[in-house]
Amino acid sequence: MVEIAVMGYGTVGSGVVEVLARHADSIAKRAKEQIGIKYILDLRDFPGSPFEDRFTKSFETILGDPEVRIVVEVMGGLHPAYDYVKKCLENGKSVVTSNKELVAAKGAELLKIAQKNNLNFLFEASVGGGIPIIRPISQCLAANEVVGIAGILNGTTNFILTKMIREKKGFDETLALAQKLGYAERDPSADIKGYDACRKICILASLAYGKHVYPEQVHTEGITNITLRDVEYAAVWGGVVKLIGMVKRTPDKKVQIIVCPMFVSHESQLATVDDVFNGIMVRGDSTGDVVFYGKGAGKLPTASAVVADVIDCVKHFKARKYLYWDDGSPDYVEDYRENEVGMFVCVKAKADTEERVEQLFGKVDYLIRRDAEPGEMAFLVPVMKEKVISEKLARLSETGAEILNTIRIGDL
Ligand code: HSE
Repeated sequence: MVEIAVMGYGTVGSGVVEVLARHADSIAKRAKEQIGIKYILDLRDFPGSPFEDRFTKSFETILGDPEVRIVVEVMGGLHPAYDYVKKCLENGKSVVTSNKELVAAKGAELLKIAQKNNLNFLFEASVGGGIPIIRPISQCLAANEVVGIAGILNGTTNFILTKMIREKKGFDETLALAQKLGYAERDPSADIKGYDACRKICILASLAYGKHVYPEQVHTEGITNITLRDVEYAAVWGGVVKLIGMVKRTPDKKVQIIVCPMFVSHESQLATVDDVFNGIMVRGDSTGDVVFYGKGAGKLPTASAVVADVIDCVKHFKARKYLYWDDGSPDYVEDYRENEVGMFVCVKAKADTEERVEQLFGKVDYLIRRDAEPGEMAFLVPVMKEKVISEKLARLSETGAEILNTIRIGDL
């Protein structure tokens, strides 16, 4: 029997306990050991729960119990999760977590402690919920150089954008619906401002290229500026607006990484990833594009990934799973303004704006939508460095044209 502790009995934690209890026999067969939940750490009381006798409010009890060999951290947030996980790894306990904030901020450090102590630190559930993505990148695609990764990594924003596209509802109305349905939290900032997707692309980038990318190094834009007007222009162009997390390797072994809304062509596999689903495209130099699709959040999908990691830990007490990346550095992430990109631009035009646009950008393609406001003009800037586009748009503003929005065009 292997004893484990589960820290946090929220949505994911209760799912982990449920899956372990429901599939106890088949899990034991796969792990070649019975897995017992000795403790569940939570500050709340759960009277009447079938696991009532396992609850503790004391982390020290778990830390001090040598029988507990694996700790599942599903509390979320950086503190106290970071301190608890670090202490567990320093005290001989392998750790499984779904906590993307923790892995994105402290992954390199925690992996190093795990390696030093010959333990496992596994986090399949931290990206894409129930979708296998950490293991495929670190194992199945290990023979490839990863050329790039692009993904729809946040279910909440994908639900909002899908509703805006399909039902022609505005952002605020759709966010309220997402909150009503339980897809968006009462404070939805981490999702709609792109921070959640940023943490996930940081984890994938760190894993794929072996060096930590910290969230504060990533230019991150959410979807709060996306309007029905933008969604309609994307349709005219031949695609949809999606919140994309993207990373690419540069020839000098740095990374280009960004999180932002993008126009995604209907021809891209990511264009059909709708509702709360996630889709992640990994471009390998040998495999070409490989796409992972499924439920990126939710109690049981996420619990499924956590429990699979627990099984892997049980099977690898002696031989550590190889999962590792080095500390990052300030010069590792290229300034996003150096990226080459095409851009959708929507302006409130003056009489001479078309002429000014062509003086600045040369011949451009215009997009026409049926319900355009008087003076509204939309065009596509051809691929060039972002900083050049910004400079030219600043000059266009000086002529009196008001820039209503800009959205990058994804090459996906
Ligand atoms: N809020 C996240 C999402 C949950 O919407 O995708 C899963 O990380």
